[in-house]
Amino acid sequence: MKKEDKNPIMENLISLSKRRGFIFQGSEVYGGLAGTWDYGPLGVTLKNNIKKAWWKRFVDDREDMYGMDAAILMNQNVWKASGHVGGFADPLVEDKKTKKRYRADHLLEEVGVDPKGMTLDMMSQALKDKKIKSPEGNELSDVRQFNMMFKTHVGATEDESAISYLRPETAQGMFVNFKNVMDTFHPRLPFGMAQIGKAFRNEIAPRDFIFRTREFEQMEIEYFVDPRNETEVNATIDALYAEQLAFLSDIGLDSKRIHKIEIAPADRAHYSKRSIDTEFDFPFGQKELLGLAYRTDYDLKAHTEASGTDLSYFDEESKARFIPHCIEPTFGLDRLVLAVLSQAYTEDELGGEKRVYLKLSPRIAPVKVAIFPLLKNKEALTDKARELYKVLRTEIGAVEYDEAGSIGKRYRRQDEIGTPFCVTIDFETIEKDGNPVTVRDRDTGGQEKIPLKDLVSYLSQKLSS
Ligand code: GAP
Repeated sequence: MKKEDKNPIMENLISLSKRRGFIFQGSEVYGGLAGTWDYGPLGVTLKNNIKKAWWKRFVDDREDMYGMDAAILMNQNVWKASGHVGGFADPLVEDKKTKKRYRADHLLEEVGVDPKGMTLDMMSQALKDKKIKSPEGNELSDVRQFNMMFKTHVGATEDESAISYLRPETAQGMFVNFKNVMDTFHPRLPFGMAQIGKAFRNEIAPRDFIFRTREFEQMEIEYFVDPRNETEVNATIDALYAEQLAFLSDIGLDSKRIHKIEIAPADRAHYSKRSIDTEFDFPFGQKELLGLAYRTDYDLKAHTEASGTDLSYFDEESKARFIPHCIEPTFGLDRLVLAVLSQAYTEDELGGEKRVYLKLSPRIAPVKVAIFPLLKNKEALTDKARELYKVLRTEIGAVEYDEAGSIGKRYRRQDEIGTPFCVTIDFETIEKDGNPVTVRDRDTGGQEKIPLKDLVSYLSQKLSS
């Protein structure tokens, strides 16, 4: 674990994530690979539930959105035209003795200097003024740019022409398919393209668990608008920002932990005319969760010029041809997983005992309901519980059957993975009129007897409220 992960909540969260099968260190049996994490069975389900909620809100429920899944490897000219080969870099300093590399802006932040808007020279000077040494106590080099793209070669030859990059953003896969979508679906402006997929950045200092990693997933929208009506463009920026917030509410994030930050011109990405970051109160501080950038015609124009393919739009009404402008709401999926996990992590006392539970929204909880027979060696109970398990799997989905250990232990396990409801089959269920089952609520620990015939509607209503 890195120094900066030694935050008690983060330590507990990382430990729970591993213990309960959400997230493991990447390549763990070989000692790990820095900046990579593997999602286990519950983690991938949680992540998929967030993806599904996103795809539903931004693609399925809208008439103006076109889904995409472009290749990760792209022609190197894409990244030359987009500006990433020339400028996708972070400020790097090197420990002159150990040759270890650090983010200059992070070192400055750690001593209370805000590096926003600083040039490389200004950062070098600030490091000197503050007499900042490397974490090992050695002299630091001057600050220089470090390109974060992972370079590779495609095919059997390793010459210049075979160079490709693992994409550092999913966005370019949509810009280069703009014409394909135009030619096949003939959409009228405004319309958007949406994509979920992996992105890769050779981060100098990956840190804070899945917050900053070298391989991560993005969910991005490139929304194309007519640039001639500035009022309309600004209204669309506001509407898309509001949709970002609505999505955060869909997955249960607390609006009090969410902050809107207008990014100053000097700190915007090279392609952006306006950027609004959405920051979240993580256990290690208020940090960027999502972004929204007004990319103007930067990308379509750059690809038109570099590829020679016309990526303009013809407006039938005004008979005018122009390059649409693009507004890009972008979401880091792993940061969303971390936000929901860190918000959900709760310690309290129940029945005089300390407990840990994940207060996840039922909408994204990996397991919705757990079914327990009271005793595992009573066939009448296990048969009934298995029968119910089959029914609930069809009717509710994401249901778990568990017969191992005491009921108390089983509750603790389900609490730790955030299961909203546990249902116990006991002797009353098989002997008494109405076949009552015991339904236990994760958050309150309260228990209710529900007739078996009403269980599906009871749970469906509770899970959707
Ligand atoms: N297409 C625009 C773009 O990529 P960005 O702000 O560089 O913009 C978008 O990245 C989102 O991707 C961020 O808001 C963040 O949620 C996520 N992200 C960026 N770098 C990341 C990293 N190293 N690890 C995890 N998530 C990251």
